[in-house]
Amino acid sequence: MSESEVKDAAGGGAHLLQMRGIEKRFPGIIALQNVSFEVTAGEVHCLLGQNGAGKSTLIKVLAGVHQPNEGQILLDGKAATFSNPDDAIKAGIGTMYQELDLVESLTVAENIFLGHEKSIRGFSARKDEQRAAAGLLARLGHPEISPAMEVGELSAAGQQIVSMARALSRDVRVIVMDEPSAVLDSEEVRNLFDTVRALTSSGVAVIYISHRLEEIRIIGDRITVLKDGQAVASNLLVSQTPNAELIKLMTGRSITNIFPPRVAIEDDAAEIITINDLVVAPGHSPISFSVRAGEVVGLAGLVGSGRSEILGAIYGINKPVSGSVTIDGRKLRPGSTVSAVKAGMGLCPEERKSQALLLDDTLIANFTLASIGRYATAGFTSQQREYQASMEQVQSLELRPADPTREARTLSGGNQQKVVLGRWLSHGCRVLLLDEPSRGVDVGARSEIYNLISGLSRAGIAIIVVSSELEEVLGLSHQVLVVSENRIVHQAPAAELSEHQILDLVMEGTTL
Ligand SMILES: Nc1ncnc2c1ncn2[C@@H]1O[C@H](COP(=O)(O)OP(=O)(O)OP(=O)(O)O)[C@@H](O)[C@H]1O
Ligand SMILES: [Mg+2]
Repeated sequence: MSESEVKDAAGGGAHLLQMRGIEKRFPGIIALQNVSFEVTAGEVHCLLGQNGAGKSTLIKVLAGVHQPNEGQILLDGKAATFSNPDDAIKAGIGTMYQELDLVESLTVAENIFLGHEKSIRGFSARKDEQRAAAGLLARLGHPEISPAMEVGELSAAGQQIVSMARALSRDVRVIVMDEPSAVLDSEEVRNLFDTVRALTSSGVAVIYISHRLEEIRIIGDRITVLKDGQAVASNLLVSQTPNAELIKLMTGRSITNIFPPRVAIEDDAAEIITINDLVVAPGHSPISFSVRAGEVVGLAGLVGSGRSEILGAIYGINKPVSGSVTIDGRKLRPGSTVSAVKAGMGLCPEERKSQALLLDDTLIANFTLASIGRYATAGFTSQQREYQASMEQVQSLELRPADPTREARTLSGGNQQKVVLGRWLSHGCRVLLLDEPSRGVDVGARSEIYNLISGLSRAGIAIIVVSSELEEVLGLSHQVLVVSENRIVHQAPAAELSEHQILDLVMEGTTL
């Protein structure tokens, strides 16, 4: 069937999948209320909505992870019940979850075939799996990922690819991608889109979740918008719905200028942090730069260009080969995060799930983690004060739901990101390192986070930000350092750079 025939069939009402009147309640919250959602064969159906709107919950109901309190799922017009994830997989629903759920200690191939191991036991079966895994990875444009590698050794982007290979290792009719692009760079997103196109032209339906509207424009056919657990618009045609309308539907308001104006830096502003000839790892070029009070320095570059490693070395997670980091004139002990934190440095890491959040603890515990001392008087922590301080955080971050006693695990992805940021805000630091601060964060919350960063800059905090989104680096930073293959290839005021120039620099750097 050609693509247009598939779409004609779709137009004729041939729904591959329908969800009708879905309601999902969690203790104290109605995550989904009377949501209906339908998908036709061969289409890319985008699910949009702010953080906490219910997107992931809806797809977890579809994937058999959650049981709905009300409502029905129909496949080919017939009622289907998915009591567990396996039922859904068997029915042809493949899911790439937002918070990756791979087993880090198993190999790539083992993860891909987990739960449906090739049936012949022993060596030959393992070889079969490895061969099949290699085929899938090559098809996804990533032949460099070895099936025998442990998943824990892969970057977040690599793990995302494995998660996709796992979904494709089954016969899928519907594939759900929950913010797949959040950890991918632009090249990888292009690969992903090629895969999506190949899938849809063979009649597979793709449910695609992303906060990046420009991606929806490229890959999407139709859109359903969720807001506060309800579908506020269904089956909008991408081609006929302008961004402004989508933003309005998602947020209930119009957002025009997402970046606050840059805070002016005084000529005599003090240098807070100085990085001097820092060699992050053997063979890397030395890196030097400094950040003044209130200044935001952005590190631009591709995923894997070495930006996160630079932050890691500054913060002391990895011990640099040589060079020094100085805060307020005092040298930090190389490779010591304790020394960095004592000197007033904070880091919001890229992988919030593994590195930054206490998922099983309350928001209060997460906020106070870095600053326990401040709430302790005469040796005991004052619960009341902790609660109040956390409540203030919850309100200033506009967390949804606004309850500091909830476990971090139960928050939506974007709200978790705000918690990580909030932790350092309550810590009161001199230097803040931000790695992909708006990853997975919706437009509304994104402008809140940018405002927070601008507020920190106004308060005189020195900020170093890594972002794969060039618009974000340019919009937030005073100075931009372009990083390519572990070295700084260019440095200039953000006002003198364009996205285009940065891309050129990055590309030149990688082909040299
Ligand atoms: N296991 C759970 N227990 C309790 N509440 C939950 C649970 N999972 C989700 N929620 C709540 O349900 C609501 C919807 O969350 P969901 O994760 O579906 O949002 P989302 O639209 O995917 O957001 P994001 O863009 O941030 O990923 C949120 O208020 C969230 O806190
Ligand atoms: Mg989600």
